[in-house]
Amino acid sequence: MLIFFTLGVSKLKTQEYIEEIIKLKKERNAIILAHNYQRGEVQDIADYIGDSLGLSQKAAEVNEKVIVFCGVHFMAETASILAPNKTVLIPDITAGCPMADMISAQEMKEWKNKYPGRPVVCYINSTAEVKAECDFCCTSSNAIRVIEAVNSNEILFAPDQYLGSYIASQTNKKLILWDGYCYVHRMILPKHILEKKKEFPEAEVWAHPECRGEVLELADKILSTGGMVKQARLTDKKEIIIATETGIIYRLKKENPDKNFYPAYEYAICSNMKKITLRKVLDSLKEMKFVVKVPEETAEKAKDAIDRMIRI
Ligand code: 13P
Ligand code: SF4
Repeated sequence: MLIFFTLGVSKLKTQEYIEEIIKLKKERNAIILAHNYQRGEVQDIADYIGDSLGLSQKAAEVNEKVIVFCGVHFMAETASILAPNKTVLIPDITAGCPMADMISAQEMKEWKNKYPGRPVVCYINSTAEVKAECDFCCTSSNAIRVIEAVNSNEILFAPDQYLGSYIASQTNKKLILWDGYCYVHRMILPKHILEKKKEFPEAEVWAHPECRGEVLELADKILSTGGMVKQARLTDKKEIIIATETGIIYRLKKENPDKNFYPAYEYAICSNMKKITLRKVLDSLKEMKFVVKVPEETAEKAKDAIDRMIRI
Protein backbone atom coordinates (compact mmCIF):
# COMPACT_ATOMS: atom_id res chain seq x y z
CA MET A 1 0.00 0.00 0.00
CA LEU A 2 2.79 2.35 1.03
CA ILE A 3 4.74 1.41 -2.12
CA PHE A 4 1.76 2.26 -4.35
CA PHE A 5 1.28 5.55 -2.54
CA THR A 6 4.96 6.46 -2.91
CA LEU A 7 4.94 5.54 -6.61
CA GLY A 8 1.80 7.62 -7.12
CA VAL A 9 3.35 10.63 -5.41
CA SER A 10 6.59 10.40 -7.42
CA LYS A 11 4.61 10.20 -10.69
CA LEU A 12 2.72 13.30 -9.66
CA LYS A 13 5.96 15.08 -8.84
CA THR A 14 7.45 14.11 -12.23
CA GLN A 15 4.40 15.56 -13.99
CA GLU A 16 4.66 18.73 -11.90
CA TYR A 17 8.35 19.08 -12.76
CA ILE A 18 7.66 18.61 -16.46
CA GLU A 19 4.91 21.24 -16.48
CA GLU A 20 7.07 23.72 -14.61
CA ILE A 21 10.05 23.07 -16.87
CA ILE A 22 7.93 23.70 -19.98
CA LYS A 23 6.58 26.95 -18.50
CA LEU A 24 9.98 28.22 -17.35
CA LYS A 25 11.61 27.28 -20.65
CA LYS A 26 9.27 29.69 -22.44
CA GLU A 27 9.75 32.46 -19.87
CA ARG A 28 13.53 32.19 -20.02
CA ASN A 29 13.69 31.71 -23.81
CA ALA A 30 15.63 28.49 -23.21
CA ILE A 31 16.33 25.29 -25.13
CA ILE A 32 17.22 21.94 -23.53
CA LEU A 33 19.97 19.87 -25.17
CA ALA A 34 20.64 16.35 -23.88
CA HIS A 35 23.28 13.74 -24.58
CA ASN A 36 22.23 10.22 -25.61
CA TYR A 37 23.38 8.85 -22.22
CA GLN A 38 20.99 10.98 -20.18
CA ARG A 39 18.23 9.46 -18.04
CA GLY A 40 15.08 8.62 -19.99
CA GLU A 41 12.97 11.29 -18.28
CA VAL A 42 15.59 13.93 -19.12
CA GLN A 43 15.73 12.80 -22.77
CA ASP A 44 11.93 13.10 -22.85
CA ILE A 45 11.90 16.81 -21.94
CA ALA A 46 14.84 17.69 -24.23
CA ASP A 47 14.32 19.70 -27.42
CA TYR A 48 17.29 17.97 -29.01
CA ILE A 49 19.12 14.75 -28.10
CA GLY A 50 22.43 13.87 -29.72
CA ASP A 51 26.07 12.83 -29.64
CA SER A 52 28.94 15.20 -28.89
CA LEU A 53 29.22 16.41 -32.50
CA GLY A 54 25.47 16.89 -32.98
CA LEU A 55 25.13 18.72 -29.69
CA SER A 56 27.97 21.13 -30.42
CA GLN A 57 26.57 21.87 -33.89
CA LYS A 58 23.13 22.45 -32.40
CA ALA A 59 24.53 24.76 -29.71
CA ALA A 60 26.12 26.89 -32.43
CA GLU A 61 22.86 27.38 -34.32
CA VAL A 62 20.07 27.78 -31.73
CA ASN A 63 18.09 31.02 -31.52
CA GLU A 64 17.19 30.77 -27.83
CA LYS A 65 19.09 32.91 -25.33
CA VAL A 66 19.64 30.15 -22.78
CA ILE A 67 20.97 26.62 -23.36
CA VAL A 68 20.31 24.10 -20.59
CA PHE A 69 22.93 21.46 -21.27
CA CYS A 70 22.08 18.01 -19.93
CA GLY A 71 25.39 16.23 -20.26
CA VAL A 72 28.86 16.56 -18.76
CA HIS A 73 30.98 19.65 -18.18
CA PHE A 74 33.21 19.55 -21.28
CA MET A 75 30.08 19.40 -23.46
CA ALA A 76 28.62 22.51 -21.81
CA GLU A 77 32.00 24.21 -22.26
CA THR A 78 31.92 23.37 -25.98
CA ALA A 79 28.44 24.90 -26.19
CA SER A 80 29.72 28.03 -24.43
CA ILE A 81 32.66 28.27 -26.86
CA LEU A 82 30.43 27.92 -29.92
CA ALA A 83 27.66 30.15 -28.59
CA PRO A 84 29.53 32.82 -26.60
CA ASN A 85 26.54 35.17 -26.51
CA LYS A 86 24.20 32.61 -24.95
CA THR A 87 23.89 31.68 -21.31
CA VAL A 88 24.88 28.01 -20.98
CA LEU A 89 23.62 26.23 -17.89
CA ILE A 90 24.50 22.78 -16.59
CA PRO A 91 22.00 21.46 -14.02
CA ASP A 92 24.74 19.84 -11.90
CA ILE A 93 28.12 21.55 -11.84
CA THR A 94 29.83 18.39 -10.57
CA ALA A 95 28.85 16.37 -13.68
CA GLY A 96 32.33 16.03 -15.15
CA CYS A 97 33.98 13.50 -17.43
CA PRO A 98 36.80 11.61 -15.65
CA MET A 99 38.48 10.91 -19.01
CA ALA A 100 38.53 14.62 -19.91
CA ASP A 101 40.23 15.27 -16.56
CA MET A 102 43.02 12.77 -17.30
CA ILE A 103 45.07 15.46 -19.03
CA SER A 104 45.54 19.04 -17.83
CA ALA A 105 46.61 22.02 -19.95
CA GLN A 106 50.01 21.96 -18.21
CA GLU A 107 50.49 18.27 -18.99
CA MET A 108 49.50 18.91 -22.58
CA LYS A 109 52.08 21.72 -22.88
CA GLU A 110 54.84 19.49 -21.48
CA TRP A 111 53.83 16.61 -23.76
CA LYS A 112 53.93 18.88 -26.84
CA ASN A 113 57.40 20.05 -25.85
CA LYS A 114 58.55 16.43 -25.86
CA TYR A 115 57.38 16.02 -29.47
CA PRO A 116 58.07 19.33 -31.21
CA GLY A 117 56.57 19.88 -34.66
CA ARG A 118 53.86 17.21 -34.34
CA PRO A 119 50.29 18.44 -34.76
CA VAL A 120 47.98 17.73 -31.82
CA VAL A 121 44.46 16.36 -32.12
CA CYS A 122 42.29 16.20 -29.03
CA TYR A 123 39.11 14.24 -28.55
CA ILE A 124 36.16 16.51 -27.78
CA ASN A 125 36.12 14.81 -24.35
CA SER A 126 38.73 17.25 -23.03
CA THR A 127 38.60 20.51 -21.09
CA ALA A 128 38.46 23.86 -22.89
CA GLU A 129 41.95 24.65 -21.57
CA VAL A 130 43.33 21.49 -23.17
CA LYS A 131 41.50 22.19 -26.44
CA ALA A 132 43.11 25.63 -26.43
CA GLU A 133 46.51 23.87 -26.63
CA CYS A 134 45.53 21.71 -29.61
CA ASP A 135 45.48 22.13 -33.38
CA PHE A 136 42.38 20.06 -34.11
CA CYS A 137 39.50 18.66 -32.17
CA CYS A 138 37.54 15.51 -33.13
CA THR A 139 34.60 13.47 -31.93
CA SER A 140 34.01 9.73 -32.09
CA SER A 141 31.94 10.21 -35.26
CA ASN A 142 34.58 12.11 -37.26
CA ALA A 143 37.91 11.07 -35.68
CA ILE A 144 39.16 9.03 -38.66
CA ARG A 145 38.29 11.80 -41.13
CA VAL A 146 40.04 14.42 -38.99
CA ILE A 147 43.22 12.34 -38.56
CA GLU A 148 43.35 11.63 -42.29
CA ALA A 149 42.99 15.32 -43.08
CA VAL A 150 45.87 16.41 -40.79
CA ASN A 151 48.93 17.17 -42.87
CA SER A 152 51.47 15.04 -40.99
CA ASN A 153 52.29 11.36 -40.64
CA GLU A 154 52.92 11.65 -36.91
CA ILE A 155 50.22 13.11 -34.71
CA LEU A 156 49.76 13.50 -30.96
CA PHE A 157 46.35 12.27 -29.84
CA ALA A 158 44.75 12.76 -26.38
CA PRO A 159 43.23 11.79 -24.07
CA ASP A 160 41.58 8.48 -25.11
CA GLN A 161 44.11 5.72 -25.83
CA TYR A 162 41.41 3.31 -27.00
CA LEU A 163 39.85 5.68 -29.52
CA GLY A 164 43.40 6.60 -30.57
CA SER A 165 44.42 2.96 -31.12
CA TYR A 166 41.26 2.33 -33.11
CA ILE A 167 41.90 5.34 -35.40
CA ALA A 168 45.53 4.27 -35.84
CA SER A 169 44.31 0.83 -36.98
CA GLN A 170 42.10 2.47 -39.62
CA THR A 171 44.63 4.93 -41.08
CA ASN A 172 48.27 4.96 -42.15
CA LYS A 173 49.18 7.64 -39.62
CA LYS A 174 51.38 7.10 -36.60
CA LEU A 175 49.55 8.30 -33.51
CA ILE A 176 51.40 9.08 -30.31
CA LEU A 177 48.83 8.40 -27.61
CA TRP A 178 48.08 9.87 -24.20
CA ASP A 179 47.13 7.04 -21.84
CA GLY A 180 43.64 8.25 -20.84
CA TYR A 181 40.50 6.13 -21.03
CA CYS A 182 36.81 6.11 -20.18
CA TYR A 183 36.25 3.96 -17.09
CA VAL A 184 32.69 3.16 -18.23
CA HIS A 185 33.69 1.74 -21.61
CA ARG A 186 36.74 0.03 -20.12
CA MET A 187 34.40 -1.96 -17.86
CA ILE A 188 33.01 -3.75 -20.91
CA LEU A 189 35.05 -6.92 -21.46
CA PRO A 190 35.21 -9.49 -24.28
CA LYS A 191 33.56 -12.06 -21.96
CA HIS A 192 30.49 -9.81 -21.64
CA ILE A 193 30.11 -9.71 -25.42
CA LEU A 194 30.63 -13.46 -25.73
CA GLU A 195 28.05 -14.16 -23.00
CA LYS A 196 25.49 -11.91 -24.71
CA LYS A 197 26.21 -13.46 -28.10
CA LYS A 198 25.50 -16.88 -26.60
CA GLU A 199 22.24 -15.61 -25.19
CA PHE A 200 21.22 -13.84 -28.44
CA PRO A 201 22.98 -15.70 -31.27
CA GLU A 202 21.14 -13.76 -34.00
CA ALA A 203 22.18 -10.37 -32.65
CA GLU A 204 24.70 -7.98 -34.19
CA VAL A 205 27.23 -6.26 -31.91
CA TRP A 206 27.70 -2.48 -32.08
CA ALA A 207 30.49 -0.95 -30.03
CA HIS A 208 31.59 2.59 -29.23
CA PRO A 209 35.25 3.28 -30.18
CA GLU A 210 36.03 4.15 -26.54
CA CYS A 211 35.83 0.38 -25.82
CA ARG A 212 38.92 -1.80 -25.44
CA GLY A 213 40.50 -3.08 -28.65
CA GLU A 214 39.58 -6.70 -27.73
CA VAL A 215 35.94 -5.65 -27.51
CA LEU A 216 36.08 -3.75 -30.82
CA GLU A 217 37.44 -6.89 -32.46
CA LEU A 218 34.23 -8.70 -31.52
CA ALA A 219 31.99 -5.94 -32.89
CA ASP A 220 30.14 -5.98 -36.22
CA LYS A 221 29.99 -2.18 -36.25
CA ILE A 222 31.99 0.52 -34.47
CA LEU A 223 29.87 3.63 -34.05
CA SER A 224 29.53 6.86 -32.11
CA THR A 225 26.30 7.18 -30.13
CA GLY A 226 24.84 9.28 -32.96
CA GLY A 227 25.95 6.60 -35.42
CA MET A 228 24.10 3.97 -33.38
CA VAL A 229 20.90 6.04 -33.42
CA LYS A 230 21.11 6.40 -37.23
CA GLN A 231 22.07 2.77 -37.86
CA ALA A 232 19.21 1.54 -35.64
CA ARG A 233 16.72 3.15 -38.04
CA LEU A 234 18.42 1.72 -41.12
CA THR A 235 19.22 -1.85 -40.11
CA ASP A 236 17.08 -4.88 -40.92
CA LYS A 237 18.47 -6.64 -37.84
CA LYS A 238 15.94 -7.17 -35.09
CA GLU A 239 18.41 -7.80 -32.27
CA ILE A 240 21.45 -5.72 -31.39
CA ILE A 241 23.92 -5.94 -28.52
CA ILE A 242 25.06 -2.44 -27.58
CA ALA A 243 28.56 -1.98 -26.15
CA THR A 244 28.45 1.51 -24.72
CA GLU A 245 26.92 3.41 -21.79
CA THR A 246 23.48 1.91 -21.16
CA GLY A 247 21.55 5.23 -21.27
CA ILE A 248 21.37 5.09 -25.07
CA ILE A 249 19.21 1.94 -24.93
CA TYR A 250 16.24 4.09 -23.81
CA ARG A 251 16.37 6.17 -27.00
CA LEU A 252 17.08 3.19 -29.27
CA LYS A 253 14.04 1.30 -27.92
CA LYS A 254 11.78 4.33 -27.99
CA GLU A 255 12.59 5.14 -31.62
CA ASN A 256 12.62 1.49 -32.81
CA PRO A 257 9.92 -0.39 -30.91
CA ASP A 258 10.08 -3.29 -33.39
CA LYS A 259 13.74 -4.03 -32.53
CA ASN A 260 15.46 -5.38 -29.43
CA PHE A 261 18.57 -3.74 -27.99
CA TYR A 262 20.56 -5.44 -25.25
CA PRO A 263 23.29 -3.75 -23.21
CA ALA A 264 26.59 -5.63 -23.56
CA TYR A 265 27.15 -4.97 -19.87
CA GLU A 266 24.34 -3.71 -17.61
CA TYR A 267 26.72 -1.93 -15.23
CA ALA A 268 28.33 0.26 -17.88
CA ILE A 269 26.73 3.36 -16.40
CA CYS A 270 28.29 6.83 -16.40
CA SER A 271 27.48 8.15 -12.94
CA ASN A 272 28.28 11.70 -14.05
CA MET A 273 25.76 11.62 -16.88
CA LYS A 274 23.17 10.33 -14.42
CA LYS A 275 23.69 13.24 -12.04
CA ILE A 276 21.30 15.30 -14.15
CA THR A 277 17.71 14.78 -12.96
CA LEU A 278 14.41 16.45 -13.83
CA ARG A 279 14.43 18.21 -10.47
CA LYS A 280 17.89 19.64 -11.21
CA VAL A 281 16.81 20.76 -14.69
CA LEU A 282 13.91 22.59 -13.07
CA ASP A 283 16.15 24.21 -10.43
CA SER A 284 18.60 25.14 -13.15
CA LEU A 285 15.93 27.08 -15.04
CA LYS A 286 14.45 28.57 -11.86
CA GLU A 287 17.72 29.85 -10.43
CA MET A 288 19.66 30.19 -13.71
CA LYS A 289 22.39 27.87 -12.42
CA PHE A 290 25.07 26.65 -12.99
CA VAL A 291 26.48 29.00 -15.60
CA VAL A 292 29.33 27.54 -17.68
CA LYS A 293 31.39 30.30 -19.25
CA VAL A 294 34.79 29.70 -20.79
CA PRO A 295 37.13 32.71 -20.41
CA GLU A 296 37.42 34.62 -23.69
CA GLU A 297 41.10 33.97 -24.43
CA THR A 298 40.80 30.20 -23.81
CA ALA A 299 37.52 30.08 -25.73
CA GLU A 300 39.04 31.74 -28.80
CA LYS A 301 41.96 29.31 -28.96
CA ALA A 302 39.76 26.27 -28.28
CA LYS A 303 37.33 27.46 -30.95
CA ASP A 304 40.09 27.41 -33.57
CA ALA A 305 40.60 23.67 -32.90
CA ILE A 306 36.83 23.02 -33.00
CA ASP A 307 36.34 25.12 -36.16
CA ARG A 308 39.10 23.19 -37.95
CA MET A 309 37.23 19.99 -37.10
CA ILE A 310 33.89 21.37 -38.30
CA ARG A 311 35.49 22.50 -41.59
CA ILE A 312 36.83 18.97 -42.19
P1 13P B 1 29.58 10.37 -28.48
O1 13P B 1 30.19 11.55 -29.11
O2 13P B 1 29.64 9.14 -29.32
O3 13P B 1 28.17 10.69 -28.05
O4 13P B 1 30.41 10.00 -27.17
C1 13P B 1 30.51 10.85 -26.08
C2 13P B 1 30.94 10.17 -24.87
O5 13P B 1 31.11 10.74 -23.83
C3 13P B 1 31.20 8.75 -24.97
O6 13P B 1 31.52 8.26 -23.73
FE1 SF4 C 1 33.26 10.59 -19.89
FE2 SF4 C 1 33.00 7.97 -20.21
FE3 SF4 C 1 31.06 9.32 -19.03
FE4 SF4 C 1 31.52 9.57 -21.68
S1 SF4 C 1 30.81 7.76 -20.59
S2 SF4 C 1 31.14 11.23 -20.23
S3 SF4 C 1 33.74 9.42 -21.71
S4 SF4 C 1 33.15 9.06 -18.28
